[in-house]
Amino acid sequence: MMEVFLQLCVLLLVAAAESSHRKEYTDVAVIFTQQWPMTFCLEKHAHQEPCVIPDNVTFWTIHGLWPKNGEFCNASWPFNETKIKELVPLLKLYWPDLKGHGSEFWKYEWDKHGTCAGSLPEMNSEFKYFNKALELHHNQNLLKILSNMGIVPSLKNTYKFADIEMAFHKAFGVKPKVQCIKEKDQKQMLGQIEVCLNKSLLPIACRVIHQYVCRPLVEVKRDGRLPALVGACQRSHGVLHEEEVSCRRRLNK
Ligand SMILES: *[C@@H]1O[C@H](CO)[C@@H](O)[C@H](O)[C@H]1NC(C)=O
Ligand SMILES: *[C@@H]1O[C@H](CO)[C@@H](O)[C@H](O)[C@H]1NC(C)=O
Ligand SMILES: *[C@@H]1O[C@H](CO)[C@@H](O)[C@H](O)[C@H]1NC(C)=O
Ligand SMILES: *[C@@H]1O[C@H](CO)[C@@H](O)[C@H](O)[C@H]1NC(C)=O
Repeated sequence: MMEVFLQLCVLLLVAAAESSHRKEYTDVAVIFTQQWPMTFCLEKHAHQEPCVIPDNVTFWTIHGLWPKNGEFCNASWPFNETKIKELVPLLKLYWPDLKGHGSEFWKYEWDKHGTCAGSLPEMNSEFKYFNKALELHHNQNLLKILSNMGIVPSLKNTYKFADIEMAFHKAFGVKPKVQCIKEKDQKQMLGQIEVCLNKSLLPIACRVIHQYVCRPLVEVKRDGRLPALVGACQRSHGVLHEEEVSCRRRLNK
C-alpha cells in the first residue's frame, strides 16, 4: 500500500513538473502564514508547554512571512527592535508570541526569514518587512473568509475540508495550504493557513500536489511526550475550527 502511495506520489510530481503547475510553483516568491491561536495553544498545552492568548487576540494571528529564496540569509543584519518601535503595539496584537517570550519570536522570524526579504523592494528594510506582514494580515481576514461560508469556530461542529478549501478559493482565487493539528484519538483541528504569493505579493497557487498527496499529517516527536500530528489536513475527515471563548478560558486558566 505504502509502495503504491509513493509511486503515485512520484508520478504526480513528474506530471506536475511537466505541466503548468511548474510555473505556478516557481512563481511563489513568499509565503504568508497565519495560525489559529486556539489550536496552537491546545497543541502546546497537550505537551505541557506554556502558551497564553492575550484577551484582545480574537482572530487568526501572523506566524510569518517567508521568502522562498532561503533562510538565515544575512547574519550581518541583526534584528533591532528600535527600528520597528511604532509597529510594536500592532505586532503584539497581530503577531503575538503566544509562548510568552516577548520580542523573541519577531527576532527569530527576522533572522530566519526577514533577512532573506531584501530582494523584494516592498520588504527591503526591517520596518518594511514587519509592516508588510501587518498589511497582509489586515487584507486577509481569515475568520471573515471562513464565516462567509458558514464556517465559524465551534466546540463540536466539524466542517468538510472541501468547504474550507472553497472558502479560501473564493477569497484568494487560488487554494492556499491548509494545515491541521491532530492530537492522539482526537479530531483534526484547523491550525495554519499558508498563502503563497508571487513577486507582486498577490496570491498564487501553492505546490498543491506536494502538499496534499505526499505530505499528509506527520508525527512530530518530542522527548518523552505524546507525539502530535502536524501537516496537511486529511481531506476525507471533518475539520474542527476550535471555538474561541471557552477554549481561551480553558487555556489561560
Ligand atoms: C491588548 O491587551 C494587552 C494586555 O492584555 C494590552 O497591553 C494592550 O494595550 C491591548 N492592545 C490593544 C490594541 O487593545
Ligand atoms: C547584509 O546586511 C547588511 C546590513 O544591512 C548589508 O550592509 C549587506 O549588504 C547585506 N549583505 C547581503 C549579502 O545582502
Ligand atoms: C537600532 O536602530 C536604531 C535606530 O535606527 C539605531 O539608532 C541603533 O544604533 C540601532 N542599534 C543597534 C544595536 O544597531
Ligand atoms: C502575480 O499574480 C497576479 C494574479 O495571478 C498576476 O496578475 C500578476 O501579474 C502576478 N505578478 C507577477 C510578478 O508574476
